[in-house]
Amino acid sequence: MEVELSKLGNNLVTKFHVLMRISQIYDSKNVALSQFISEFLETINKLIKGSGVLSLKIIKDDFFLNDQRLRYSVEGFTSFKYLSTQWKKRLIGEVVFKTLMNEEMLRHFIYAFINLEEGHEENADLLKKQLESHQITSIDVNPLEIVEGEEEAFTLQKEDHREVGKKIFFETIGTIKDVITNIKGNQHADIRKLKRLAQKAIHLVIEDESILLGMTMIKNYDEYTFNHSVNVSIYALAMGKRLGFSKKILTELGITALLHDIGKSKIPREILNKPASLSTEEWEMMRKHPLMGVEIVLNLKQLGEINPRMVVGVFDHHLMNDLSGYPRLFLKKGVSLFGRIIQIADSYDAMTTPRIYKKIPYTPEQALAVMLREKEIHFDPLLLKIFIGLVGIYPLGSLVLLNTHELGIVYKSNHDPKWLDRPIVLLVDRDTKGDATKELIDLTDTDRAGNYKWSIVKTLDPYKYHIDIAKYFL
Ligand SMILES: [Fe+2]
Ligand SMILES: [Fe+2]
Repeated sequence: MEVELSKLGNNLVTKFHVLMRISQIYDSKNVALSQFISEFLETINKLIKGSGVLSLKIIKDDFFLNDQRLRYSVEGFTSFKYLSTQWKKRLIGEVVFKTLMNEEMLRHFIYAFINLEEGHEENADLLKKQLESHQITSIDVNPLEIVEGEEEAFTLQKEDHREVGKKIFFETIGTIKDVITNIKGNQHADIRKLKRLAQKAIHLVIEDESILLGMTMIKNYDEYTFNHSVNVSIYALAMGKRLGFSKKILTELGITALLHDIGKSKIPREILNKPASLSTEEWEMMRKHPLMGVEIVLNLKQLGEINPRMVVGVFDHHLMNDLSGYPRLFLKKGVSLFGRIIQIADSYDAMTTPRIYKKIPYTPEQALAVMLREKEIHFDPLLLKIFIGLVGIYPLGSLVLLNTHELGIVYKSNHDPKWLDRPIVLLVDRDTKGDATKELIDLTDTDRAGNYKWSIVKTLDPYKYHIDIAKYFL
């Protein structure tokens, strides 16, 4: 019996997760929801029938089903995590279903739930009132009980994510370095490891994209190619997530982005790192890297992990939107979706990274301005829009001057597009030991009178202020 309950409980959490996600995309009347609603109803009603009343409660990080702690399976992890974050954000601690549910009740419940404002203390009451307004009285809602130490636990979790992020980031750089070294030495390269890392990164990007996006600020001068590949991959994944790609496609995109410049491993270092401009022959050589990349990818030991979509992505990542780039094509067709995504991520990262021939790179804002100017010719305008939504009007890592005369670094863009110009900002300050203090402010915060507490006055060039942006993202 207990096993059965736990199975149904796991099932319920997964279905709850799916339903919440779906209902954030569709409005409550949409027919696409019906399938998910009926699956959810089947599970929950089975549980209610079994015990008369069903309570789903969250204490600390655990869900309890009628006071029995639910153990989750590995596959269930994402759903548990998602659901507990969503409940906690809205300060909802328990939902009690006192009678069997029907479709209408469920639709009202789920939409009232997702529309609750985050961090609002009266949410439980509010939700109950909302339901009552639809004559639904058989669902009880209780607020989240803050257990002592809970608050700490919650921030600790955030910190954990950051640690995981760092690990994935540096491990991926190390792995891509191995792959490139092996290819240079004509040895077989293991890309299965890259795949595993890409999957981990995807997990994190889905959970909280800002952590890995922040890591792209760590521009490593000496190991440009490795760093660059990882950064391009992070931007590409975050874009793919916003485009609604499945995990499978995201994994393919992530690997493609990691390998996009693999052809450069066949180009002599002197050319890659030449401080002066390239001669015609050298430039010709440089322009062959997408094609050489294709050759390398097709020769990989685990070719089974590669599909045409990925090969084409490597091939056309310099083709440009109007096909004016390279390699030159005899038969003009469009640039593949992977290629178009990588082009944007690639250009942005290249422009914002110091290189031997351009020691002071563009600031994020300047880079975006350049890209916007060239948008029709070089980039897919729609994808560029998505990318800007990702890095914000004040892109991640921009140094900004606030109206309070404080300096800040744009740390995270606000999810809501209407707040593109009001990101989360890290105040630039150091403690006595010289370590970056990490005080975050949200530029959407207002004072009692409803005025914004902080606003961006202008962006500044960090190189002029000798501020190492990367330090604030570590
Ligand atoms: Fe390239
Ligand atoms: Fe590149």
